[in-house]
Amino acid sequence: MARDVIGGLRAEARLAPESGIVEVVNAARNREGLIPLWVGEGDLPTPDFICNAAKASMDAGETFYTYQRGIPELREALAGYHQDLYRKPFSPEQFFVTGSGMQAMQIAVQCVAGAGDEVVFPSPAWPNLAASVGIMGARAVPVAMDYGDDGWSLDPQKLFDAVTPQTRAIYLNSPSNPTGWVADRQLLNIILEEARARGLWILADEVYGRFSYQGTGPAPSFYEIAEPDDRILFINTFSKNWAMTGWRIGWLSAPPEMGQVIENLIQYSTSGVPVFSQRAAIAALTEGAGFLKQQIERAEGGRRIVVDGLSESNRIRLSVPDGAFYLFFGIEGIDDCRRLALDLVARTGVGLAPGSAFGSGGEGFLRLCFARNPDQLKVAVERIASAAGDFR
Ligand SMILES: Cc1ncc(COP(=O)(O)O)c(C=O)c1O
Repeated sequence: MARDVIGGLRAEARLAPESGIVEVVNAARNREGLIPLWVGEGDLPTPDFICNAAKASMDAGETFYTYQRGIPELREALAGYHQDLYRKPFSPEQFFVTGSGMQAMQIAVQCVAGAGDEVVFPSPAWPNLAASVGIMGARAVPVAMDYGDDGWSLDPQKLFDAVTPQTRAIYLNSPSNPTGWVADRQLLNIILEEARARGLWILADEVYGRFSYQGTGPAPSFYEIAEPDDRILFINTFSKNWAMTGWRIGWLSAPPEMGQVIENLIQYSTSGVPVFSQRAAIAALTEGAGFLKQQIERAEGGRRIVVDGLSESNRIRLSVPDGAFYLFFGIEGIDDCRRLALDLVARTGVGLAPGSAFGSGGEGFLRLCFARNPDQLKVAVERIASAAGDFR
């Protein structure tokens, strides 16, 4: 008799959810004329000056084990980058190099949530937070954001009402994947005050912080209002800003007292990030301002194309995203967005992510990534707008 392999697994591993985007991708990945806007990344390759830094490092023989926390030069560069951006002092001791933003999130969750604990978060959201919390044996508690004529909004009282004696942390992703919503400074203050009063951690996922369309600077950040001893863990990545999604390198920032704890958690997972990737990351931080500016401008142009193109159709409901690089929109009268995403890619070749993949509140929406080639975006929105009338 066959042995029950799966039944022998730890429930939290067995029950980790499959991605809701992959089903749509698998159904159409080889379709001719496909325009894949279901992705969570831009389409520009990593610039040469970043790749060359990695090559030079490899040529110099930097292929050995290294510091768990990250090489000192990169931690220095991270402190300098934040100092320039937020115009306040930062110490290299606050920064820890991780093998992606995803690993920064995983370590942050490991630090604060174990069996029986809860983490509260606004939903819809990038599904990996809830999955990481679940794998730890803790419970991720979604709090529905509101959607109305003015777009997405978060009532902080609803967030606090979801806090129980088991709650250890609030996760906030602003600018948001998938909605493009951006928390204002006042909301960040309210959340920080409440977290301080209740002894909660904040998991601040600011990976899209540079992609803000509200002014010239970055989106409002907890960095601007935090004290050094606040219980805030910042999740960040090189992936989005510098077109480095495949490199798998990110960073966590945390109160310096946590240094040994985080070092240990890195030791018992990846044991550190390759030095040559870290050299590339230094090049990104110290020489990458021009490239990043271009990326932001390109995304802003993409945003204009998709918002203008889709606003012409009276069946499409959308709110203009203030940040990140996604448009989260729906087709009036259609709730089954999984079916809609499958039909849309089959009929038009435009690949979008179903909103249901982003948890409660995402049903009825589709996510489109606009950090892509503008000509392709124009074709995609024409095809979506002309097909929109046909869906029932
Ligand atoms: C909200 C959010 N946080 C974190 C990440 C992690 O990015 P990465 O693992 O590529 O560094 C992503 C990637 O899509 C994201 O959307």
